[in-house]
Amino acid sequence: MNGYLAISIRGTGRALPSRVLTNADFEKMVDTSDEWIRTRTGILERRIVSDGQSTLTLAVDAARDALADAGMAATDLDLIICATITPEYPFPATACFMQEQLGVPDIPAYDISAACSGFVYALISAAHFIHHGTYRNVLVVGAECMSRFTDYTDRGTCILFGDGAGAAVIGPAEREDQGMYYCHMGADGKGAATILCPGGGARTPASRETVDQRLHSLKMNGREVYKFAVTKMQQVIHDAMVAQGLAADDIAMIIPHQSNLRIIESAREKLGLPAEKVFVNIDRYGNMSGASVPVALDEVRKSGVVGAGQWVLLVAFGAGLTWASALIRT
Ligand code: UT7
Repeated sequence: MNGYLAISIRGTGRALPSRVLTNADFEKMVDTSDEWIRTRTGILERRIVSDGQSTLTLAVDAARDALADAGMAATDLDLIICATITPEYPFPATACFMQEQLGVPDIPAYDISAACSGFVYALISAAHFIHHGTYRNVLVVGAECMSRFTDYTDRGTCILFGDGAGAAVIGPAEREDQGMYYCHMGADGKGAATILCPGGGARTPASRETVDQRLHSLKMNGREVYKFAVTKMQQVIHDAMVAQGLAADDIAMIIPHQSNLRIIESAREKLGLPAEKVFVNIDRYGNMSGASVPVALDEVRKSGVVGAGQWVLLVAFGAGLTWASALIRT
């Protein structure tokens, strides 16, 4: 999808549980080692919710942080979109609970289910509404409690995931050069079963058997997803840069989904990008699915490395299989 969308990022925020699960903690839980996890994934630790915390509490905390950063009140919002695959309940949308807790009656609120690509999907949707004047100020949140859908006896997946939420308040462009200049979304349903939560949906409703068989947690064919991700990450970054005629030097920061450091490094090396232009925080948070990109976006903005008028490229891929990119001039 090419075409300029006149938007600006007004504010960003994040919420991360204080509880830390280290690789050493996993050594006590499953047959693994700190060395295996570090070298195969780049993860050192991840944040996990405590009792009383959930996708909704993280989402609302991140939203309040983003609103404060934007200098706006919740009542300034016209729409809330929450990207999550770990919703507060199967239905209704987590975004509706957020709307109630933020105290903004009547504005539309809905969830997007696009896994790790969810925040970028939501951001692109919001940008279209804003550009065409349908809504002015949109709260876009990526929030996940992956720990509630993780099988902590499966060493192939449990070491990967963490909990967190990131948020952005998006509004109309405030300068002529500001905006989303390129965006792209894709999906390949042939790969839908490669990352899946098999139990609890209409196909296989919850029962004693589904609980006994651990069907309410994420199952993943890691190798298949790895092959897809390594190719897709590189291709999506390349396509966005070519579409806008940008070289590595032109981009202030690429913010990729954080699922495996080897996937990020492979794309970076093949595209000849310097390490300081590709943001990494997987070492501290693991894979937070739809929350990874917005948490990284908030860390990048607040670190001050990206100034006004600079290019930022958001890139994500994940279950679905889905992928998405958004090239933004800040
Ligand atoms: O955000 C959603 C998108 N998800 C992803 O992008 C994930 C993509 N996949 C991956 O990142 C990687 O495939 C993993 C990190 C999940 C796995 O790494 P891998 O290098 O692909 O390992 P593997 O699955 O090929 O397994 C290699 C070996 C196996 O043992 P054998 O069969 O060679 O004896 C596994 O049983 O490593 C074993 N293994 C482990 N060993 C120690 C798997 N998990 C662990 C573990 N600790 N935690």
